[in-house]
Amino acid sequence: MNSLTQSPCWKTLQSLAAEISGQHMRHWFEQDPQRAERFNIDACGINLDYSKNLINQQIMEGLTGLANQQQVETKRDAMFAGEIINHTEERAALHTALRNFSGQPVMVEGVDVMPEVLATQDKMGDFVKRIHSGSHKGYTGKPLKEIVCIGIGGSFLGPKIMSEALKPYWHQGVNVHFVANVDGCHIHDVLATLDHEQTLVVMSSKSFTTQETLQNTLTTKDWFLKAGGTQQDIAKHFICVSSNIEAATEFGIAEENIFPMWDWVGGRYSLWSAIGLPIALRLGYENYRALLEGAYEMDCHFKQAPLEQNLPVVMALLGVWYTNFFGAQSHVLLPYYHYLRGFPAYVQQLDMESNGKCIAGDKEQIDYATGPVIWGSEGTNGQHSFHQLIHQGKVLIPADFMLPLKVENQNDTHHAMLASNCFGQTQALMQGKTFDEAYADLDGKGLSDDKRESLAHHKTMPGNKPSNTLLFEQLDPKTLGALVALYEHKVFVQGAIWGVNSFDQWGVELGKVLGNQVLDKIRNADEPLDLDASTNALIKRFRQALKK
Ligand code: F6P
Repeated sequence: MNSLTQSPCWKTLQSLAAEISGQHMRHWFEQDPQRAERFNIDACGINLDYSKNLINQQIMEGLTGLANQQQVETKRDAMFAGEIINHTEERAALHTALRNFSGQPVMVEGVDVMPEVLATQDKMGDFVKRIHSGSHKGYTGKPLKEIVCIGIGGSFLGPKIMSEALKPYWHQGVNVHFVANVDGCHIHDVLATLDHEQTLVVMSSKSFTTQETLQNTLTTKDWFLKAGGTQQDIAKHFICVSSNIEAATEFGIAEENIFPMWDWVGGRYSLWSAIGLPIALRLGYENYRALLEGAYEMDCHFKQAPLEQNLPVVMALLGVWYTNFFGAQSHVLLPYYHYLRGFPAYVQQLDMESNGKCIAGDKEQIDYATGPVIWGSEGTNGQHSFHQLIHQGKVLIPADFMLPLKVENQNDTHHAMLASNCFGQTQALMQGKTFDEAYADLDGKGLSDDKRESLAHHKTMPGNKPSNTLLFEQLDPKTLGALVALYEHKVFVQGAIWGVNSFDQWGVELGKVLGNQVLDKIRNADEPLDLDASTNALIKRFRQALKK
């Protein structure tokens, strides 16, 4: 028997969910003119309208009660204080120390980590200036204008997606390329376009053991040497970010070219560390600092705001409401801003790698749903494809719509159209269209009664579909920093409620181990095929194809 699902708060929420079944949000809006104001929070440059959700005051109180029962605030304080909350890996989870502008120390096992953090930030700032000014030159004396960033997972998604999101803030004069996949097509395509004399390689791997990143770096090193560079010249062209200094040095990276990070920074929370160096190279160091400042503001809000006014807490509670009391299995993110198009993929790793877990506490088997499937893409494109399922499908898919109010380099007509589509979608999802409305629309269309009735059924939209709308004054570096920290803390709060460890990722390990076993068998045709029959047959086919 699981204590969470048997708890008084859980039971209260179950009855509240039953109480509102059959009620419709459009009536709640008709009955309560204050609803939009009541369910609205403004903080850190982000406005959240959460009035189009299946909630009322009592439900929000019930959800806040659940957060209290699960000691969310105590757990939050433990995270900020550097306690060993990642208990399976025996580590703190202190990404917040990387954007700590308070001037206060942050202690990990009795040691203040801030001096090292600040020293690394200075090193980053200095390096970025030298690249941008052209004073750091390649081995033939040319400035390094092509930056190839190699890394995967958290060592890729944050740097790439945040760089992309801040295109209006780019430093001109450099090109930044990202390569993650071990699929050789990508690295070969990128290198084919570059002049090795002007190329800087930033290899990012917290562990320095990740197969994809090591192989892509080896391929790049090989390309550099074949193009005319020597072993000695590598120091000018290859740098790395890692917490595994020993392995990086063994690999051949000069010690002064290693930017450190620490095991108390989770991979998917690492863009605030030197893993964010590609962002600083793309935007300039000051803009990168602004990203960190925005995240720090959100940290302060998360620590100080009462639960019912707390952006990450409220968003987390709404997610728990749908996941655990309405059976929602996914959550869609819909940025109405082209530059933010990668954000769903970023949150995918953040959320699914953090809360895709089935053990609570030390060893309790969980009997309730945890992290949902996160997906989505930029608006308005989705409106012409998958939104149909959200509007009329039989599964409940809560949505987060996002829109910057002001944008650069777009004329008003485009932006007004974008905004109207965004708002119109949230309205359509909420209010739907009744059978009577659909039937009335078909008046005078020359249809038989039967045809009119049948068509009206197809055109009926259930509505009552929940969504949040997040508006930003503009998506500048600071607001983006706050947005990313908002989702980080949302994921943290949900993990705290579900009792999972949001900071490990054991589930990805087995695939890595088995992948390496298979690689041995592919490379060495004499290795016996002693795996399961299906995998043996796949390897056999691959071996045969290699021989042809
Ligand atoms: O395989 C998952 C993972 O461990 C992620 O958590 C991490 O962000 C990614 O791999 C890359 O790891 P590293 O930075 O150690 O190369």
